[in-house]
Amino acid sequence: MRHLEEWRVSDGVQSVRDSWISRSPPDKLGVTKRYVIFGEARGWLLSQLEVPNHSLILDVGFGRGFLAFESASAFEAHVVGIDFLGGEQVKIAIAGGRIANLTNQISWVVGNAGAMPFRGVQFDAVISFNALQDVVLTGGEEVLRRVLKESLRVLRPGGVLAFADNGYPESSLRQSQKLYELIQRREFGVGLPTTRVVSNELENQGLTNMTELRYDPSISMDEKEAKIEIKDIVDARPFGKVFNFHSLWEDYARQISDTGLSYPEVLLIMGKRKE
Ligand SMILES: C[S@@+](CC[C@H](N)C(=O)[O-])C[C@H]1O[C@@H](n2cnc3c(N)ncnc32)[C@H](O)[C@@H]1O
Repeated sequence: MRHLEEWRVSDGVQSVRDSWISRSPPDKLGVTKRYVIFGEARGWLLSQLEVPNHSLILDVGFGRGFLAFESASAFEAHVVGIDFLGGEQVKIAIAGGRIANLTNQISWVVGNAGAMPFRGVQFDAVISFNALQDVVLTGGEEVLRRVLKESLRVLRPGGVLAFADNGYPESSLRQSQKLYELIQRREFGVGLPTTRVVSNELENQGLTNMTELRYDPSISMDEKEAKIEIKDIVDARPFGKVFNFHSLWEDYARQISDTGLSYPEVLLIMGKRKE
């Protein structure tokens, strides 16, 4: 067993980060860095995991692939990523895997994590970073329950589950975080139920030795950066949704200039599947 005492970004992962940063439009450099590096919260997540080298790891909701790159490289693991968005997003993840020189260690599966296409395979660890909030956004709490159930089904007895997300109500402590959460929930419809709801469901599905940890990515934005951040979310048209940036900015500019805007804390729910 190897416990990562200190997270160190590997050269491969650094190359993917550099490629994102060098291709970023100059005015969006701050957003790009926040997203790609995320205050090293993914590294923190991985540093909590005790999994042997060369494990088989499932990354639920791989997005652009950052957690998959980082876990494959930290544990010399084989990582299977599952995400229901194909198209451009999976192409970006595959390209990142090539840049990181991890092609042989990562398999990308386009599929619904609420009905995983895995039979007879058991993972040593099932992990995710900021995926549960998108699961709820696109499928509601019923799909969240299915994703949690499926994650336990494909985890081997004794295997580790570690799900980190900053969309919990308990993630926001400071005013600047509460404002970020308010905008996410009210305007973009992004938000999780409480950690207790998620933990109870995981426990019902057979997760034991559960712990909950928190990490502050220490990402704060002044008014100028906050404006770019919100515009970036609107421009991305998340899951095809269209928002009006100008009216949104009018509604929040004053509050943002008063308190600033900060990313909420990342809460990690972790445990082992009953033997
Ligand atoms: C914010 S991204 C995850 C970021 C990524 N884990 C990282 O480390 O950068 C969340 C992802 O969850 C995916 N997702 C949402 N619901 C899903 C579902 N039911 N099954 C599979 N993927 C899902 C979305 O398509 C999205 O790509």
